[in-house]
Amino acid sequence: MKTAIYPGSFDPITFGHIDIIERASKIFDRLVVGVLNNQSKQPLFTVDERVSMLKTVTKNLPNVEITSFCGLLVDFAKAYDSHVVVRGLRAITDFEYELQMSQTNHILAPELDTVFLTTDLKYSYLSSTTVREVASFHGDISAFVPEFVEREMRKKFL
Ligand code: PNS
Repeated sequence: MKTAIYPGSFDPITFGHIDIIERASKIFDRLVVGVLNNQSKQPLFTVDERVSMLKTVTKNLPNVEITSFCGLLVDFAKAYDSHVVVRGLRAITDFEYELQMSQTNHILAPELDTVFLTTDLKYSYLSSTTVREVASFHGDISAFVPEFVEREMRKKFL
């Protein structure tokens, strides 16, 4: 059984992330989505909130599991017996950071490879950072995130 992991901050989950999850779930037997619990960052949503939102959007995908992780990605991959990391590539601007991350992970764990899925063109501009910014000014984020995520975001910026 081929297990892949899809790590990220998902603060919040966007249509771009959902598109990658749906496509990766068709390529691999099992996809484990890992929400990074980053102690050094102050996220908008807690890890539990992000895990819960991801579970809601993936409830119809039986081979997708949602969890959180702390520390190194390579250790998270090992814990799930996975040799594949999935990441989305939106544009050339993502490439440098993604290449650096994938090379670092490959040196730390030579058995681990990163597979890039190119983001659907209609989401190539989209980032969680932009969504947070638009929401913080009470702008319309309905084109970027599912309705229930939009409602959760509104509560954060009341
Ligand atoms: O959604 P993001 O914020 O672009 O995801 C970044 C993430 C979580 C994939 C990355 O920060 C990560 O893997 N962090 C875990 C720490 C780690 O393993 N660092 C070494 C590789 S650069």
